Order: sequence, then C-alpha cells, then structure tokens
Amino acid sequence: MHADTATSFELVDLPGGFYDDPYPTYRALRETDPVHRFADGSVFLSRYADVLAVYKDVRRFSSDKTREFWPKFGDTPLYQHHTTSLVFNDPPRHTRVRRLLLGALSPKAIEMMQPALLSWVDTLLERLPGQGEIDLIEHFAAAIPIEVIGNLLAVPEDERAPLRQWSLAILSALEPTLDAKSQALGNAAVVEFCAYLQTLIARRRAHPRDAKSDVLTRLIFDVDEATGEPLSEAELLHNCIFLLNAGHETTTNLIGNALVALDAWQDQREKLEGGQHIASAIEEVLRFESSNQLGNRMTREEVDIGGIAIAAGTPIHLGIGAANRDPAQFADPERFDVLREPNRHLAFGSGIHQCAGMNLARLEGRVALERFLQRFPNYRVLGTPARNRRARFRGFAHVAARLD
Ligand code: HEM
Repeated sequence: MHADTATSFELVDLPGGFYDDPYPTYRALRETDPVHRFADGSVFLSRYADVLAVYKDVRRFSSDKTREFWPKFGDTPLYQHHTTSLVFNDPPRHTRVRRLLLGALSPKAIEMMQPALLSWVDTLLERLPGQGEIDLIEHFAAAIPIEVIGNLLAVPEDERAPLRQWSLAILSALEPTLDAKSQALGNAAVVEFCAYLQTLIARRRAHPRDAKSDVLTRLIFDVDEATGEPLSEAELLHNCIFLLNAGHETTTNLIGNALVALDAWQDQREKLEGGQHIASAIEEVLRFESSNQLGNRMTREEVDIGGIAIAAGTPIHLGIGAANRDPAQFADPERFDVLREPNRHLAFGSGIHQCAGMNLARLEGRVALERFLQRFPNYRVLGTPARNRRARFRGFAHVAARLD
C-alpha cells in the first residue's frame, strides 16, 4: 500500500485527501521512491538532501521556464509574465533584478518598516470584535501582507483593493493542473495588473521617491553598470507584479497556518505564553506547513540523483513540504515543536534564488503572532477550516474562530 501510494503519485491527478494531508504521500515517496518519475517524464524529489543539492547547483539545474511553460500557456500574458520575472530566470538576467530588490529588502530597510507594521497589526486587532465568530484569514492574516507590500511599492491606499485577487489569479496558474477558466482569469489578471502598473510607474517617473526605501523608484531608474541601460518596460512591469504576488499569498498562509497549528497543538501554544519563543515558532510553522510546498528546476545536462540517471531537459519538482518532514534531517519530523533546534528548513528555498523577502515574511509572521496571542490568548478555531485546495501554495481560504 505504502509503495503503491508512491508509485502511483501524479501531481496532475492527486489522490483523495491529498490537499487536506499530503504528508503520508510525501513519506511514502521518501521511503520507497525518492526520485519519482511522473508519466510525463518529469521527476519529483522528496528527500531533504536531494532537494537541497538541486537548489545549490545552479550550473546543472536551470530556473528558466521559457521552454517548459510554452505548452502550458502558449503565447499569452501569463507566459510573458512568468518567463520574465526573476524567479524563473537564470543569471545574468536574474542577477541584476535580484540586486535591485535585495537593496530595498535589506535588514536595515526592513527595520524601517517595523513601526508601520506594528501599528497596522494593532489597528486590525482593535477592529476585531471581541465576541462572535470571525474569519482569521479575511479579517487578519490576509490583511497584513497586502498592507506591507502595498507600502513597499507605495501603492496608494485606495488603489490596493484589486491586488489580492490579481495575485491569486496569477499564482493559481502555477498549479500543476490548470483548467480553461483559471487560465482565462490568470491572463485577464496579468493584463489588468500591467495596465494599473503603467499608471503607477508613470506617476513615479514624474515624482521619484527615496531610492533607498522605495523599490519602484529603484527599479525604474537604476541602470546596468555594464550597458548603462535601465530595465526594459516588460522587465519592470513583470518584476513588480512578481514582487506583489510573492509577498501576498505565501505570507497570508504563514500567518493562517500558524494560528491553525497553534490551535491544534495546545501544548505548543502554552510554550509561547508571555510572548516567548515567537521567532522559533514561526520557523517551525514554515517547516511544518510550508506555505510554498513545491519548487521547480530543469536539468541542463544528464545528471545522476540517488543512482538514477536523468536526461538533460528534464523538469524537476522539488518537494519542499516533503523535504521539510524528512527524518534524516529533522528529529521526529511529524511533530510540531515550537522550540525545534536546529531547524534548517527549506521553506524559502536555498541558493541564488533563495526568497528575497524572507526577512520581511519572518517579521510579518512574528509581529502578527505575537500581537494576536497577546490580545486573544484564548482564541479557538471552530469546526474544520476550509483549505484553499492548492498543491503548491498551502494554506486556508477561511478559518472560522472565536476570540473570547
Ligand atoms: C512565508 C512567506 C514566503 C515564502 C514561504 C516564500 C517562499 C519562496 C521560495 C521557496 C522562493 C524560491 C523560489 C525558487 O528558488 O524557485 C522564493 C523566492 C522569492 N520570494 Fe519569497 N516567500 C515568501 C515571502 C516573500 C515576500 C514577503 C517577498 C517580498 C516582499 C518575497 C519575494 C521573493 C522574491 C523576489 C523571490 C525570487 C528570488 C529570486 O529568484 O532570486 N517572498 N520565495
């Protein structure tokens, strides 16, 4: 049975119950078929050591998706978007955009964002009714990243409303299966998002801000040292979209997953009393319920993984969620342990594409959790929270809770 679960595993045809609990399947894969071949020839890796080795080996594993995404998207706005953003490019195209983003997401820049973040989280908590039922996602978790990322690109408050829906529609197109409706929604979202950003960019060109803290000003005006050229219009638009998307859903899910896990594991919640161990609890949520469960690369040449030869040009799926439960790396991995040490999880990937926003995501997670527990130490999740039913972006659509 265990071996069957592994050999029959297909990301495009997931077993019943996978969205609720993918971990038994990941365990079966790690134990019996760690270099698993899908029917389409692509390969799924589930062991920590294999996933990490691929992340580190930029020479043999490419992030460029121009070939892989063509059959899926064709000549569409989604194709243009996903093949232009830095995460799906190799050096040297990747290097330059990353340098620009990292400057605006440096520890110093993030420290400067902290006061506004604290005050926003406190405002949200004040607005929550002390009695009755609320949705932890809509009323709390999702409201935090949208504000932070909106501030990062200085999107005016009254123009932020459509950002989350655009972002969800574009990221949904990265799921292993894509129906015609989701594809149409994703394409429309890219077109509308680009049109909106063009107006925002035009305003920023006319009135630039401090390039140290304003990402958009940096992206517009920075010129390449070698060529003296700024980013092309397409590079500018699609990397802004990527940044807005990358920071939304993943961080919403981090906060939502933290509140649900701490409801299910009351003994662990007790360890956080008095505001202790919040940073380590956030790391454990990132490991235990990684909000981004899958990464992707393509082999540039023939490689050997675990004694299995894999041809050049093979798509590789990196099982982040599976690697983060590997007993070869984590003691008692199915246990949620807010004091886990060491905890070298792969929730943010590794190597040259390692999440550029990880310190911001960590800060958001820590502030949200600390303030929430301080204000509502006795919150309870009601019933079974509704999953978003995505294989890549793991989180909840709705979490009903009582706060009193
Ligand atoms: C819990 C929250 C988050 C998780 C789990 C997460 C996860 C990841 C992962 C796994 C990657 C690596 C992709 C790869 O190598 O193929 C990545 C890349 C990236 N993330 Fe995040 N992310 C989070 C939040 C954020 C935030 C808040 C931002 C920005 C404000 C951000 C911006 C980026 C960027 C720009 C990249 C691309 C880096 C590159 O290609 O060099 N992320 N993220």
